[in-house]
Amino acid sequence: MTPSRALILGILALTTALSPCGGQDDIQADHVGLYGLNLYQSHQPNGQYTMEFDDDELFYVDLDKKETIWRIPEFAQLRSFDPQGGLQEIAVAKYNLDILIKETNSTPAANEVPEVTVFPKSPVLLGQPNVLICLVNNIFPPVINITWLRNSKSVTEGVYETSFLSNSDHSFHKMAYLTFIPSDDDIYDCRVEHWGLEEPALKHWEPEVPAPVSELPETVVCALGLSVGIVGIVVGTVFIIQGLRSGGPSRHPGPL
Ligand SMILES: *[C@@H]1O[C@H](CO)[C@@H](O)[C@H](O)[C@H]1NC(C)=O
Repeated sequence: MTPSRALILGILALTTALSPCGGQDDIQADHVGLYGLNLYQSHQPNGQYTMEFDDDELFYVDLDKKETIWRIPEFAQLRSFDPQGGLQEIAVAKYNLDILIKETNSTPAANEVPEVTVFPKSPVLLGQPNVLICLVNNIFPPVINITWLRNSKSVTEGVYETSFLSNSDHSFHKMAYLTFIPSDDDIYDCRVEHWGLEEPALKHWEPEVPAPVSELPETVVCALGLSVGIVGIVVGTVFIIQGLRSGGPSRHPGPL
């Protein structure tokens, strides 16, 4: 093997070694803005005007509260939104819905079956405050009750729930949050009532004391790559030295 080939081998090996460790840059998604999502329904009746950003709720105005509810209260100090604007949009939605109801002889909307997922916001450590998230997807029509149960008893403290957030297929999703302190003794359920379900759905969650193996595959790949790289460097160096020793005299023949 010539020295240059050995060098290339070494560089290649080094690249292999470094890539699994350094190639984990986040892929950045494009921004998605959905402005002026209006919702009005004849049930109860209720309406919602939501401003979304990147698929999350910025604020909403609903018919009952008649005020702008910011998803993150600090936003209210930076920007303002006159709830009258939202209420007007809801009124337009109501007007259109009333026409549609008449045109369709009051055919009710078909009920979808909602999907419920429960997961913690951060990795669970016993005794360390955390937030449980109950994500309910495929909601239609947007009438739902989401409640939390701790050890089968209803919890009302430390809960928050988003408004109805839009999906591209005209269904909605909603998230309910519960701040909690993970403990071996407590089990949780997210209870969902919806017309698409014959009986309330209970999604169970309880803390699993995590085995610290989640990063194992990455670590193994990284270590393997690094070993291959180091072996490559050693082998390459040996070849270079050998090449210099044996090739040196032949390339620079001494005077005869
Ligand atoms: C939500 O709860 C209220 C009060 O308990 C009940 O009247 C209503 O029927 C429930 N809604 C659904 C969709 O089950």
